[in-house]
Amino acid sequence: MTANTLTVTDNRTGQTIELPITDGTVRANEFRKLKTSAEDFGLMIYDPAFTNTASCRSDITFIDGDRGILEYRGYPIEQLAEQSTFIETAFLILYGHLPTKAELDRWNDEITNHTFVHENIRKFMEGFRYDAHPMSMLISTVAALATFYPEALNVEDAGIRELETKRLIAKMPTLASFAFRKARGFPYVYPDNDLSFVGNFMSMLWKMGELKYDPDPVIERALDVLFILHADHEQNCSANAMRSVGSSRPDPYSATAAAAAALYGPLHGGANEQVLLMLQEIGSKSRVPEAVEGFKTGKRRLMGFGHRVYKNYDPRAAIIKRHADEVLNLTGISPLLEVALELEHVALSDPYFKERQLYPNVDFYSGLIYQALGFPTSIFPVLFAIPRTVGWLAQWREMITDPEQKIARPRQVYTGARTVPYVPIDQR
Ligand code: CMC
Repeated sequence: MTANTLTVTDNRTGQTIELPITDGTVRANEFRKLKTSAEDFGLMIYDPAFTNTASCRSDITFIDGDRGILEYRGYPIEQLAEQSTFIETAFLILYGHLPTKAELDRWNDEITNHTFVHENIRKFMEGFRYDAHPMSMLISTVAALATFYPEALNVEDAGIRELETKRLIAKMPTLASFAFRKARGFPYVYPDNDLSFVGNFMSMLWKMGELKYDPDPVIERALDVLFILHADHEQNCSANAMRSVGSSRPDPYSATAAAAAALYGPLHGGANEQVLLMLQEIGSKSRVPEAVEGFKTGKRRLMGFGHRVYKNYDPRAAIIKRHADEVLNLTGISPLLEVALELEHVALSDPYFKERQLYPNVDFYSGLIYQALGFPTSIFPVLFAIPRTVGWLAQWREMITDPEQKIARPRQVYTGARTVPYVPIDQR
């Protein structure tokens, strides 16, 4: 006989409870029924870094890390990368279905309508130091956008959520390209609304004296695919930051700035920058075996390898590896691609990486494409943040409308001193 329940016996007291199992989970709060006395708070679940805790129900993104499967709203990432566009995928992620032609045209128009930023934003960015990191500029400027849209605080209003979603998605490339050009001392280029989402981004990045920027279709498509691959990844560190900060109901610009800050770290979206620096440091194929030995000592990590969820080849890395070939055919082979391929080969045949199921992740090859396209490494996390804004907003909207969600507030196991008498300074 099988029952969809879990029976737990507390050996401290002999108390037994039966917990319903729903969707492969039990409710953590049920354990609070297990107490050693009436005053006891009840048993808690200890899960640092949430390695085995589902914090929400979500129907946006599905990942099977053991099999290397990633799907947005049920559509396999391989099919979207092959047949969709970023702007269509953004619609899918936010609204749950592929748009009709009319829906897609309207969505495209709406996003295009919001690409411009207030002139004061440009002046605000002028204030950054000449060598400011573009990701720091982006994080601060996204937060600053809230000052231009005070109505955004009204997050319970579905219409406001809709408007701010479009504004955020549309303005991220503008802010990103302003940060890029500011770092280089180039004049800012305003949006060209005749171009596609990515074509316009390329124009704002690279247009110089020409009257109209003409995006190279291979590069436009490669960037579009990279944007599709980075659009969402369920409850990762930055999505969790978006939900957690958003749960106290600030405006979405502030929550997006928090998510972008989480993305910036070298263990998350900052990894592609670190991969490039690591490949440059290794420098040649012949030095790969020595470098791999170094990564096994635990002092440094092989950047772009390993993942909390994927214990198999990250499906995004496989797609990017194929596109790297196309882009490098156009822009010229990068000597670092050889180093990366050798690094992957040596690491994947090494027992240390095999036993720990460490495979290349999305960041391992993306940096090589970005570098081939002429991006400086410091802009890499910014290129991740633009498409991921779609995922953050989808997660935020789902959280706001989920009746089960409340302000995010974990518990702790307190390990410090208690009720210590205060000692005046002259007696310490
Ligand atoms: N190089 C060498 N050893 C590693 C690596 C690595 N890249 N990643 C994990 N390990 C080892 C780790 O030392 C540990 O070994 P041991 O069991 O002997 O202590 C074991 O593998 C398990 O690692 P973990 O730290 O418990 O794994 P995690 O799930 O907490 O970390 C990770 C996941 C992505 C933070 C980690 O694999 C890492 O730091 N990778 C390098 C940074 C990177 O590429 N990040 C991008 C992630 S994908 C893009 C994104 O989502 O932003």
